[in-house]
Amino acid sequence: MSPRPARYHPALVTLHWLIALLVMLALIAGSLVISDMPNTEPDKIDALRIHAIMGVSIGALMLIRLLVRWRTAHPAPASTGIALADRLAPLAHGALYVLVLLMAASGIALSVQSGLGEALFGTGALPADFHAFTPRLVHGLIADLLIALIVLHVAAALYHALVRRDGLLRRMGFGAR
Ligand code: HEM
Ligand code: HEM
Repeated sequence: MSPRPARYHPALVTLHWLIALLVMLALIAGSLVISDMPNTEPDKIDALRIHAIMGVSIGALMLIRLLVRWRTAHPAPASTGIALADRLAPLAHGALYVLVLLMAASGIALSVQSGLGEALFGTGALPADFHAFTPRLVHGLIADLLIALIVLHVAAALYHALVRRDGLLRRMGFGAR
């Protein structure tokens, strides 16, 4: 077997940071702005149009990223020095993929059930309240789980960078592999 590279593939690195930015923007806009707007507010359609396009794009980028991840070589697993954390890391990374994909899927399911697509890109109107639809509850619940997992993920990255000082962030950066 060829030796493990020192960094992730540049395509995976690009996708990691692009998706990280888009997911954080969608989470912030969704929970702090859009969900607080009444559906009768005229600006809500414009905000949701951006949110839906962004959400579907995130889902597509995440699927592309899974393909790239599968086709490229990765660095050897990093160690935190804590056996339990080392065992949980791959699970947490897998859960990041699953939760992001579930956000996009529940958003699409919500659109289909509530007629959102028609309201955003046709002549339909927004429903009185999205909370009447089950996918809205799923969308809100998964958002909370995803926020918690991202906080943990960033805390772990900082632990590697500041406590272990093992240069882990460089693995998710550009440079010679
Ligand atoms: C929405 C935000 C984010 C998501 C969804 C996300 C997702 C992921 C996933 C799934 C991996 C595993 C790599 C793979 O196998 O594909 C990963 C690795 C990594 N992430 Fe993130 N990430 C996010 C934000 C961040 C942020 C803000 C930082 C920095 C503070 C960060 C630093 C890293 C590092 C350093 C690695 C490499 C870990 C290693 O070498 O094993 N991530 N990220
Ligand atoms: C990864 C992608 C996505 C993320 C991170 C995201 C994030 C969020 C968040 C954080 C909320 C507020 C949840 C709450 O406070 O309970 C929200 C609400 C919403 N999202 Fe998404 N979303 C994504 C994809 C989508 C997609 C693809 C659609 C539609 C096609 C969509 C449609 C909506 C709608 C209709 C609401 C409800 C607004 C309301 O209750 O007034 N989202 N989203």
